[in-house]
Amino acid sequence: MTATAAISLTVNGEAVEARVSPRVHLADFLRDQLGLTGTHIGCEHGVCGACTLRVDGAIVRGCLMLAVQADGAAVETVEGLSDSGEIADLQAAFRDRNALQCGYCTPGMLIAAQDLLLQEALPSRDAIREHLSGNYCRCTGYQAIVDAVEATARARSGGRP
Ligand code: FES
Ligand code: FES
Repeated sequence: MTATAAISLTVNGEAVEARVSPRVHLADFLRDQLGLTGTHIGCEHGVCGACTLRVDGAIVRGCLMLAVQADGAAVETVEGLSDSGEIADLQAAFRDRNALQCGYCTPGMLIAAQDLLLQEALPSRDAIREHLSGNYCRCTGYQAIVDAVEATARARSGGRP
C-alpha cells in the first residue's frame, strides 16, 4: 500500500486538510475526495481542457498537477466561481447562445474564458479562439462559445462595440 501525504489547502475559499496518495492528481482528488464533480476528466493527459481549474489565480490542468503539489495553494473550481457569482453573466451567455450541448467541456471552458476576460476586457474573436484552443468541445463547433464570450466581454465593458 502506498503511504499517503498530508496536504493543507483552500478550495473555493474553504480550508481543507486531507491525506492523499502521492500519485493522485488534483482533479481526481477534488472529484473523489471532496465531491466536487464539476471538474471533468476527459483525456487525462493535458490535451482536452475538461479538467481546467484555477490555482493561485492561474489556470491549470487538474489532470497534470498532483494533489500533493497543491499543498498550500488556493484552488478554485467551477463550483466556487459559480457559487460566488463571478461567472454568472458568462454562464447566462452560454445558455442564451446555446454554447453548450452535452456540457462536458463547459466547466473548463467557462474557467478558461473567465481567465481571458480577466486579462483582456475586449478580446477579438481570434484572441478568444486562441485562448480557448486548449479546451476541446465535441458538440458545438465553437462558434456559439466564441459568441457567448464575446457577448460577455461587451456587456462587461458597458456595451462598447
Ligand atoms: S482531462 Fe485534463 S486535459 Fe483532458
Ligand atoms: S458541449 Fe459537449 S463537449 Fe462541449
